[in-house]
Amino acid sequence: MELVKRPRRLRMDGRVRDMIRETRITKKSLIYPIFVEEGQGIIREIPTMPGQKRYSPDTLPKALEEAAEKGIQNIMFFGIPKHKDECGSQAYCDHGIIQEAMRAGKKYVPQLLYIGDVCMCEYTSHGHCGIIKGDSVDNDKTVPLLAKTAVSQVAAGADMVAPSDMMDGRVAAIRQALDEAGYIDTPIMSYAAKYASAFYGPFRDAAGSDNFKGNRKTYQMDWHNRREALKEVDTDLEEGADIIMVKPALSYLDIIREVRDRVNVPVAAYSVSGEYAMIKAAGAQGMVDESAIIAETTTGIYRAGAEILITYFAMEIAQMIDEGRIG
Ligand code: PBG
Repeated sequence: MELVKRPRRLRMDGRVRDMIRETRITKKSLIYPIFVEEGQGIIREIPTMPGQKRYSPDTLPKALEEAAEKGIQNIMFFGIPKHKDECGSQAYCDHGIIQEAMRAGKKYVPQLLYIGDVCMCEYTSHGHCGIIKGDSVDNDKTVPLLAKTAVSQVAAGADMVAPSDMMDGRVAAIRQALDEAGYIDTPIMSYAAKYASAFYGPFRDAAGSDNFKGNRKTYQMDWHNRREALKEVDTDLEEGADIIMVKPALSYLDIIREVRDRVNVPVAAYSVSGEYAMIKAAGAQGMVDESAIIAETTTGIYRAGAEILITYFAMEIAQMIDEGRIG
């Protein structure tokens, strides 16, 4: 055959395939979420997320060291307090669990970057992401508490804060509170387009926030919508967000691409607990090749436009990068 174009030419040699890759993944762009629980001596398996554990501040440094040794550079903390109340007071308590985890991390493994999840659902007795009013969350009563939470996390050592509550106006309020406290250089990574997703199920089990009545549809986004994600992103950028996040990742690759094409800031994607749990479950049953699926799904998220990935597979991905199986 006389063909001018033979696309297979560039697929014949593995070295050429490596050379022309359009998507590369670096360890430095990964964020590893870790669950920290108030108490002592805790290393507790999370049943819905096989391989992930809860740590108390004293057992945490070892896990952080292991992550650092693998070349992970960024950590995000989710806190599980001993006591929950109506107004989630442990979220903004100076000696709350995230604050103590920050102190332990900064003291024993200072080379890592620590990001605090700013939300109230792990701290409220009713499990919602803010102060309850009727069947919903009171936006304007919640926002000042989120700002207080962010400031106390940064005071305890957080290098960055990531509000995941989806209240209106929280980025502006957090920015103002951080600035007033003198933390003008602490970035905000906003969960800008966060959908009301069933993929958070395993996380809620892990974080003990699965007791809430109803759903989160009055604050998290309806997953039928695409334009609305852009509205949320625009709003958060106007309010001063430094990094924008899309969450979940795998069912929202179109949103990641659209956001990437629209904004001039870094875009993060959060591959959430349900995505992790499904791959783990299918892998454990021998239905799929787990590490091949991790490599392909992870690459898909980056190819969609994410430059930062929050993933429970961070350790596995780092290992695969070392082995040349990904990236
Ligand atoms: C809220 C929060 C949630 C997740 C991250 N932050 C749960 C929720 O909104 O109900 C989910 C993350 C995951 O599923 O991995 N603080």
